[in-house]
Amino acid sequence: MLLFRAYYSKYIAGKQSRCYIWIILIRKEEIFFGESSVQSLKLGDVVLHSPLWNAGGTCKSKKDIDLLVKTRVGAIEYGSITAEPRDGNPGTVIHVNDDGNSLNSIGLKNEGVAYYMERLPWLVEIARGYGKPFFLNIAGSNPSDFIVLASLALAAKVDAMVVNLSCPNAHDANALLCFQLDTVGMVLNAVRRGSENKIPLIPKISPITDPSYRATLVRFLASFPEVAAIASCNTFPGCWDCDDEGKSYISGTGYAGGAGDQLFQFNLGQVRSICHLLNQEGRGRDIPVIGIGGVTDGRRAHQYIRAGARFVAMHTAARNPQPPYQLLPDAFDRVSDELSAIILTN
Ligand SMILES: Cc1cc2nc3c(=O)[nH]c(=O)nc-3n(C[C@H](O)[C@H](O)[C@H](O)COP(=O)(O)O)c2cc1C
Repeated sequence: MLLFRAYYSKYIAGKQSRCYIWIILIRKEEIFFGESSVQSLKLGDVVLHSPLWNAGGTCKSKKDIDLLVKTRVGAIEYGSITAEPRDGNPGTVIHVNDDGNSLNSIGLKNEGVAYYMERLPWLVEIARGYGKPFFLNIAGSNPSDFIVLASLALAAKVDAMVVNLSCPNAHDANALLCFQLDTVGMVLNAVRRGSENKIPLIPKISPITDPSYRATLVRFLASFPEVAAIASCNTFPGCWDCDDEGKSYISGTGYAGGAGDQLFQFNLGQVRSICHLLNQEGRGRDIPVIGIGGVTDGRRAHQYIRAGARFVAMHTAARNPQPPYQLLPDAFDRVSDELSAIILTN
């Protein structure tokens, strides 16, 4: 694949703004498993100007959107949000260590659908004003939540919905949704119903260590016509770490979703295997895979593209590693620039 990045700068409201346009041609080394996994930066009918964006959990307010729209992310992913407001889990719920690993047990803190009903169309418009498609990340524990959330997404005219089937930190939920095929089916049908089949869906899955179940799940997801991409992956459930006195970094049970560096090689393999499975199903062209986990620089983002992903998203490396772990939007521009430099020299 040859990916050209055209660059121009212009002045908007007195501020210099830079804009990159990604143009992709297919070259031989990007032909995986006999099928091209990369054709363009298209996700459903949505065209992105960059293959990189912010992963779930990085953008949960207007303030976050204001920071991200000024970066070169290809889309804005907002959420996760749930049907009812959630306070999240109490105490210390994030820890990032010096090795680039993160633990979090935020527990889907958000304001709930009633709050977003008025605000979401406005937030979508802000993102669009900067040429960024808006993806809404939705989470829930039962199909009726997802109907409500999908109706909200439809009313706000979002560009796609990331269906979070893999949050390990909602301790009131029975189990991770993506590990129960019948629940996945009920959730996706609920989302289709709520959105009147009009919004592309991006199911987001967990790290799945059983290759046989992973294959079953991917084939099942690919059988839904609205599935426009698969996001791999969410945090690794049940991680734990402590300080030198043996005290858990995370409050409550201490268990948390692990991400960052520790996910990288596992998820490269998971992404590669998902692309392989989709190609076997003849769906590799129309269901791109989004590689998420341990992206810290352009080289790692490019490793995901080598593994077959068409898009890449990141979270941990875009947070300050010191409390209060605030969002570092410049990280997206750095990785984006490094990625384009690698692609242009390959
Ligand atoms: C603090 C934190 C909060 C997160 N919140 C969400 C969330 O609300 N929804 C979601 O789908 N994923 C969430 N994630 C998972 C990330 O989107 C991503 O899948 C995972 O962290 C792997 O990427 P990374 O290694 O770049 O962090 C969260 C991750 C972290 C570290």
